[in-house]
Amino acid sequence: MRILVVGGAGYVGSHMTKLLGESGHEAVVLDNLSGGTREAVLGAELIVGDVADRGLLERVLGGRRFDGVMHFASSIQVGESVAEPAKYYRNNVAGTLNLLECMSRAGVLRLIFSSSAAVYGEPGGGPLEEDHVKAPLSPYGRTKWMVEQALGDFDRAYGLRHSCLRYFNAAGADPAGLLGECHEPETHLIPLALRAAAGRLPALPIFGTDYGTPDGTCIRDYVHVADLCRAHLLAMERLLGGAPSRAYNLGNGGGYSVRQVVEAARRASGKPVPVLESGRRHGDPARLVADARRARAELGWRPRYAELDAIVSHAWAWERRAVRRSSLPV
Ligand code: UFG
Repeated sequence: MRILVVGGAGYVGSHMTKLLGESGHEAVVLDNLSGGTREAVLGAELIVGDVADRGLLERVLGGRRFDGVMHFASSIQVGESVAEPAKYYRNNVAGTLNLLECMSRAGVLRLIFSSSAAVYGEPGGGPLEEDHVKAPLSPYGRTKWMVEQALGDFDRAYGLRHSCLRYFNAAGADPAGLLGECHEPETHLIPLALRAAAGRLPALPIFGTDYGTPDGTCIRDYVHVADLCRAHLLAMERLLGGAPSRAYNLGNGGGYSVRQVVEAARRASGKPVPVLESGRRHGDPARLVADARRARAELGWRPRYAELDAIVSHAWAWERRAVRRSSLPV
């Protein structure tokens, strides 16, 4: 396959680009480097540019035959989306519509879209199925759900077949140690817990200890970035085999509390993780866990790194590299 990886210099996109190359496929990366870096693009051509640039997209999509597109480029901070919704509608909705239109015109009619558990809104108690009511709580979640809905219309009108992959909590790092999570600013739990272990953060704030969960902290379904990428590959192969458009949850179906993640960070690093018990973070549901049986049944997806310790230890290997790069004592 020849795949255009939009946002292929970012966290999940860079792991995807590497996996495509390792699997004998050709990846071409389009990234504006607003969140990603050149160094994260391994074994693929990098075109620096933005999905908003229609002329560029037309040249790229018309210049050679792509079998499909994987679209990772988006703004991802829930809190920022509340404060700056314009940025989220511009980048995540308008930018993506531009991409969809250029794809349809160029006859590139297979797309894997990075969606999110944020489309579901208040999750209730149990694991979420794909048909759970969509009522996003933030502008970020709304942008993902709007694109999913637009994709349905593009499918009906132009035959643009797609898979919407709803990530739960993407985490971990390349098991070979070459890539990892590099958000700036970093807001995610696992990298921040490991920074606290490495002494790069004085203490990890725990946002809320009074939730109705066994230890009072929020439960999330952490899914290894390498497993997410394998699901993309399976989903693209399925689309190219003639399958219809579909949405899939990607998670392990378990769920770990913030305190369990802190413990895993201590085990992986062998160091204490100083914490600071703080108030709740606005908009955080108590429990967010995937029912991913559809991805297992239809894609044949089998996560290899479902255990939290594997996810956190790969992230720790990456954190140590980050520490060495910044030449701080480990
Ligand atoms: N948390 C802390 N301290 C921190 C950071 C996070 O206690 O310093 C807690 C959060 O309150 C939450 C859990 O750790 O309970 C996980 O938080 P993350 O920020 O790592 O991830 P989220 O669950 O908030 O966000 C993820 C994705 C988003 C997506 C969202 C769907 O990163 O892109 O799930 O709800 F929108």
